[in-house]
Amino acid sequence: MAKLKVNADHVLGKINKEIYGHFSEHLGRCIYEGLYVGEDSQIENVNGMRTDVIEALKEIRVPVLRWPGGCFADEYHWKDGIGLKDGRKKMINTHWGGVVEDNSFGTHEYFELCRQLGCESYVNGNLGSGTVQEMSEWVEYMTFDGVSPMADLRTKNGHAEPWRVHYFGVGNENWGCGGNMNPDFYANEYRRYQTYVRDYHQDYRINKICCGPNVDDYEWTRKVLETCFAHGGQNAHGFMNGLSLHYYTVPGDDWQHKGSATDFDEKEYYRTLHKAYYMEELVRRHGAIMDEFDPKKEIGLMVDEWGTWYDVEPGTNPGFLYQQNTMRDALVAALTLNIFNKHCDRVKMANIAQMVNVLQSVILTDGAQMVKTPTWSVFRMYRDHQDAQLVESSLESAPVGLETEYSVPNLSESVSVAADGVLHITVANLSLSDAYDIEVEISGCAQGSAAGKSSAAGASAGTAFAGGLGTCDGIKGEILTGAMTDKNTFEAPDAVKIAAFDGVKRTETGLSFEIPACSVVHLAL
Ligand code: AHR
Repeated sequence: MAKLKVNADHVLGKINKEIYGHFSEHLGRCIYEGLYVGEDSQIENVNGMRTDVIEALKEIRVPVLRWPGGCFADEYHWKDGIGLKDGRKKMINTHWGGVVEDNSFGTHEYFELCRQLGCESYVNGNLGSGTVQEMSEWVEYMTFDGVSPMADLRTKNGHAEPWRVHYFGVGNENWGCGGNMNPDFYANEYRRYQTYVRDYHQDYRINKICCGPNVDDYEWTRKVLETCFAHGGQNAHGFMNGLSLHYYTVPGDDWQHKGSATDFDEKEYYRTLHKAYYMEELVRRHGAIMDEFDPKKEIGLMVDEWGTWYDVEPGTNPGFLYQQNTMRDALVAALTLNIFNKHCDRVKMANIAQMVNVLQSVILTDGAQMVKTPTWSVFRMYRDHQDAQLVESSLESAPVGLETEYSVPNLSESVSVAADGVLHITVANLSLSDAYDIEVEISGCAQGSAAGKSSAAGASAGTAFAGGLGTCDGIKGEILTGAMTDKNTFEAPDAVKIAAFDGVKRTETGLSFEIPACSVVHLAL
């Protein structure tokens, strides 16, 4: 029996909805085909955005979408992507497959996509190969409400109203594809470029994201903060609102042998989970450095690229990064999102890479067909954590795995209370062999613990709560489970799907349930 203790009265912080954010790059079939098919497509669309994909994404409540890259961002010249489509410049996407980029998806199309998704915008600017003027004019084009050369150009292109830019990234991976800079050089460039990311509105400020470290480059974090945070500036806390972190889970030993997305054994499964769990250490250690500069935690660690990265599906363009998605990916997502929830005092945003058809996608498409991946299901099961209050919880766990150096905790959890008073518990069982009995002890509900209440397990939550934390009367459960390699295909799109979970029993002290091996459970009570 593993004990899960929840103290619903002890709120530890707000889980920013942006932790459940996504990333879409001009890469492979993410934007083109995946999200945008064009107004003249046979595939059902609204203003070029495919309806089936938008509907599936709305179900998981996408809070924020990062665009246009990635490495593509530091080669992107935004003026190529505005105006009449026929006149837009065609270019080579040098990073990703050397294909022709016709720029038919540009700034206007991106904001139309955000409008349809109902999400916030996160635009990534070009510091690596663009000028200060170009970045400054893009911000003016997007946000200035008045008479100015760029606002006039936007109006001429059919959009008189400015858009809102919630987040603006000043470069991407500038330690690598974004210019191969060292931290001191980048930090000074950042200070210069961000100066011209103007706030044209009285009622909001653009959140500026500074390029942060690659994985465990703690020196980058320190040096960039020394130059960009500690010296103050336009914002009370210096020149930035967030520092990015990129970390991908690659099961293989090197980038030439990353491993297959679908053909893997139990050892590789545990290695993958072990490597995904490394995110906890990265967040903790980069966070500790940030604490030295920013003890009040005013700026966020924005994990704006994370997820699994495998060898591409056989027969597909190596530059398109197209990979399948299995229950293993679902466990990676569940574990990672629990980590982000538990570190919500510092992690203010995260963007899984990438939204459709690239790396750890939530959606895969093939022509007019679409499947929701097991990772989609986890985002769907965790959606109630968005903007909820993280509460104190602990779950007894033990290392599991086939090799000592690649072990991982068998169980992972996070618990939050949503605005409507419903308590949400998400638990992942990473073990491939063992189911576990979990005894849940909850303190802090308005009328005591869940024990002794009469309503049956499986009753709908959210009905019996009169203010505060409610009375824990109803319990709603759902589960995602399967064999580690189970996946959804275009032939069998529902092979892995969320099912009702009615295995919760009431006990003297709270609740208990058995979580099967290789599964994710969400309880709402
Ligand atoms: O997500 C794919 C690529 O990974 C991005 O373009 C880049 O930022 C990272 O290296």
